[in-house]
Amino acid sequence: MDRFLRVFLVLSCLMLAVQGLTVGTLNETVTRSSCGTDRACFSTPADCDPTTNSACLLVSTRSSSSGLDFELRGESSGYIAVALSVDTTAGGNDKTYICANSNGTATFFFALLNNNTLEIQNDTTSISNVSASVNSTTIQCVFAVTGLNASMSRSADNTFAVVLATGTLSSDGTPSTPTVKTVTALLDLSNPSSSNTATVTTAPNVTTDANATTAATTTTTTATTTTVSGANIGLQHSLSQALLILFGVLAISLL
Ligand SMILES: *[C@@H]1O[C@H](CO)[C@@H](O)[C@H](O)[C@H]1NC(C)=O
Ligand SMILES: *[C@@H]1O[C@H](CO)[C@@H](O)[C@H](O)[C@H]1NC(C)=O
Ligand SMILES: *[C@@H]1O[C@H](CO)[C@@H](O)[C@H](O)[C@H]1NC(C)=O
Ligand SMILES: *[C@@H]1O[C@H](CO)[C@@H](O)[C@H](O)[C@H]1NC(C)=O
Ligand SMILES: *[C@@H]1O[C@H](CO)[C@@H](O)[C@H](O)[C@H]1NC(C)=O
Ligand SMILES: *[C@@H]1O[C@H](CO)[C@@H](O)[C@H](O)[C@H]1NC(C)=O
Ligand SMILES: *[C@@H]1O[C@H](CO)[C@@H](O)[C@H](O)[C@H]1NC(C)=O
Ligand SMILES: *[C@@H]1O[C@H](CO)[C@@H](O)[C@H](O)[C@H]1NC(C)=O
Ligand SMILES: *[C@@H]1O[C@H](CO)[C@@H](O)[C@H](O)[C@H]1NC(C)=O
Repeated sequence: MDRFLRVFLVLSCLMLAVQGLTVGTLNETVTRSSCGTDRACFSTPADCDPTTNSACLLVSTRSSSSGLDFELRGESSGYIAVALSVDTTAGGNDKTYICANSNGTATFFFALLNNNTLEIQNDTTSISNVSASVNSTTIQCVFAVTGLNASMSRSADNTFAVVLATGTLSSDGTPSTPTVKTVTALLDLSNPSSSNTATVTTAPNVTTDANATTAATTTTTTATTTTVSGANIGLQHSLSQALLILFGVLAISLL
């Protein structure tokens, strides 16, 4: 009986875990303050400051001992996302990190972006230290990614084009088709002097500028003006979280 219960609990937790990563509470504000000195920053509109521009979608990166640390902030009633492209075209198996507002609760998803579709991944072992906050439509999250490997060459491991996107959540709580806001040139995300060398894009058609590889200059982009419409959010996630906590308590009391 005891054993059955434990197996059941483990299975239940595994099934719930595939819905999204556990997300800690983010107590700080994601800003531009260390852009260019400590962190590489990419945003749409280029060089925007999220503390003064509510339309600003900002990601910053910094190399850590085992990979890259990310900070992401933007406005959406659904989700904001950063994807890493090895070829400046959004959508070819690009690793995509998604921070969502699930009915006021911050949730996190990992997906592959293919053909403008997000394929949610169950294996999130490359992602850790996720914390996030949601305040109205402002979503902020920080997370660490290990094992990125952009190319065969070790020195180019962190060289990606940064894709910034937003979208809504489907009624089952999963991220729907993203609206790609910008795709940068290929840049070394571990170099703080890398910044928006952006190329204009509208999903799913992506234009690239192969010559825009230097980090110093900034090409301003006309981001797509698609507005994210009202939230369409299911009960799934809060329910999952409640169950997860319940199972956790049960598991502990059983041990
Ligand atoms: C944020 O604050 C809460 C409450 O004080 C704390 O439980 C949580 O661990 C903090 N989060 C982080 C990432 O430090
Ligand atoms: C991409 O998606 C479109 C629309 O869903 C579909 O018609 C097309 O076959 C897909 N292409 C690939 C390569 O999967
Ligand atoms: C993740 O797990 C779910 C449920 O087990 C499954 O339906 C889905 O296909 C899996 N996704 C991937 C990308 O493996
Ligand atoms: C996660 O945070 C812990 C504690 O701050 C730190 O020791 C660890 O290196 C972090 N992991 C990654 C992958 O950054
Ligand atoms: C949420 O945003 C409002 C308006 O920007 C701000 O006044 C408030 O302090 C924020 N709340 C938290 C918990 O940060
Ligand atoms: C990156 O991948 C290539 C090819 O798979 C491999 O040869 C190389 O050792 C990897 N580099 C790192 C740092 O893992
Ligand atoms: C992509 O661009 C090509 C050429 O400009 C155009 O023919 C095609 O219809 C576009 N596809 C979509 C989905 O917008
Ligand atoms: C890129 O630069 C090369 C050499 O400066 C030039 O010949 C080529 O036309 C440029 N390509 C684009 C797309 O601007
Ligand atoms: C989600 O938000 C709606 C609207 O505010 C609310 O009625 C509903 O109770 C919320 N669901 C959960 C599980 O909190």
